[in-house]
Order: sequence, then structure tokens, then C-alpha cells
Amino acid sequence: MYKNYWKLTEKPFENTPDTRFIYYSSQHEESLYRLLYVVREGKGAGLLSGIFGCGKTLIGRTLLKELDKDEYRTAFISNPYLSYEELLMYIVYNLGGKDLPQKKTDVLVNVILERLGEILENNMRDGKKTVIIIDEAHVIKDRQVWEELRLILNFQAENKFLLTLLILGQPELKELIDTNKQFSQRIAVKCHLENLSEEDTTKYVLHRLSVSGRNEPVFTGEALRAIYEKSGGIPRRVNNICDLALFSGFGKEVALIGEEIIKDVARDIEG
Ligand SMILES: Nc1ncnc2c1ncn2[C@@H]1O[C@H](COP(=O)(O)OP(=O)(O)OP(=O)(O)O)[C@@H](O)[C@H]1O
Ligand SMILES: [Mg+2]
Repeated sequence: MYKNYWKLTEKPFENTPDTRFIYYSSQHEESLYRLLYVVREGKGAGLLSGIFGCGKTLIGRTLLKELDKDEYRTAFISNPYLSYEELLMYIVYNLGGKDLPQKKTDVLVNVILERLGEILENNMRDGKKTVIIIDEAHVIKDRQVWEELRLILNFQAENKFLLTLLILGQPELKELIDTNKQFSQRIAVKCHLENLSEEDTTKYVLHRLSVSGRNEPVFTGEALRAIYEKSGGIPRRVNNICDLALFSGFGKEVALIGEEIIKDVARDIEG
């Protein structure tokens, strides 16, 4: 494939939240820094909202990687399309809970909450903090789920939170939380990610190429400007355009990718 042609050690623009590729624009750096503060200071909850494809999941994954395994027990919930019981069960399971009830009964929630309480206390006894990240949290529309998540935050000991909850999601998550005053008050830090500026988009592209072992130019200046224009500075779109452009440039055997190729592939993507 185009990897050899462009002298790359790996494909630079894959749409996966691979933490090795993270580019710290000022907003990504600040969000990570502030969420790490929430976790390290043992605050109750933090929120990261942002438009689609701008790096929320990547920030969540990077944050978990930053945390010392000896100090933290973590759960990353990537698919909260669940009922309250299921979500709770999934959280407990991810935190290493065993022998969980199999059948739905009237006391199911109480049993799982009890198990969660035990896990949190055990973690604390072992000197470990517990961190739960719920990604795509904007899909949780059921107010009861938010109410119950708020109650989970009540597991406290000696004025310290036994657990930090980070919620990540699209911009409507912030609105959703703002309508729930009690939950909103528990959130120590709210961060928001927007699209990248033109300067950051260019640096982002060059950074990802560099992680893939390519420091020589691949795109002309005009091409880089066109990448920004056609992607609107949204990283996932930048990735789609750049990946196809590398493929197209390889097919045409060009030495450098110009703006024509960018415009062509952007047109193909838009359909
Ligand atoms: N700062 C960044 N540095 C490197 N890659 C990034 C950055 N921000 C986003 N990306 C890349 O862009 C793509 C989309 O990012 P991610 O999946 O984290 O976005 P998201 O905000 O979670 O999107 P969605 O709203 O669809 O869940 C991924 O390939 C990710 O690696
Ligand atoms: Mg995501």
C-alpha cells in the first residue's frame, strides 16, 4: 500500500483513538490537564463536551494512560446505550466485580450498588482511587439514570470522594447536564473541545506524519490550506481527507500532494 511509497512506518491517519498520535493543541492540552486535576484532587465529577470527531474519546484514553496503575482503578464505559441496571452492572463488571447477579429481580439495583460500594471501599483500603469514564454520555436521555449516577457520587468517606466520574459527549451533553441542577453542581470542571484553527490543523497533520516516521514534506502549503478548508478543522475529517490523499498521491506517483488532490478526495468524501 501507500506506506512504502511515502516512506512511513505506519499509516498516519487511521480513525482510531490511538494515544501515540495525540497532538496537543492548546485546547486538547488544557482539557486533559483540567480533567487530570479533577481525578488527582479526588473531585466528584468532570465533563468534556465537544463536536463530533474532535478528540473526546482520545482525551479520555490518554487520561487513563497517564494514571499510575498502582494508584488508580479505572473503568472506561464506551457504550452507555443501556438501561440503568445494565449501565450499573457494566460499571461494576469493568471495575472487576465478580459473581454479579444474572437475573433481573426487584432487588437487583440494590445488590449491584452494594457490590459497587464494596469495590470502592476495597480500593480505598488498598490506597487506590477509582475513576469511571462514561464516553458518549449524551445518549443517556433517561433522567432516572442521571439521578442514579448522582447518587453513586454520594459514596464518600471522610469528605473525600471514593470515586471520580468523568462524562464525555457531544455538545448536547452540556445542555442535558445544565437542566439537572443537582448533578451539575457536582461537576468540578467542565471542558469543551471545538474544531482546530488553521495553524493547529497544519501542525496536527505534520505531527501525525512525524509519528509515522515522516518528517519530509508530503503536502504543499496550498494542500495544507485546502485540508483545513475542506475539513473545517475537525480531526476525524482531516484524517479521512489525508488518508485518501496519500492513497491518491501514491496512485498518481506524485512527489508532493497539491491542493488539486485534496479537493478531489474531499469531493469524493462529500459524495
Ligand atoms: N488532538 C488530537 N491528536 C491526534 N489525533 C486526534 C486528536 N483529536 C482527535 N484525533 C483523532 O481524530 C479521530 C476522532 O477522535 P475521537 O474519536 O477521539 O473524537 P470524538 O470527539 O470522541 O468523536 P465522537 O463525537 O464521534 O465520539 C481519532 O482518530 C483521533 O485519534
Ligand atoms: Mg468519541
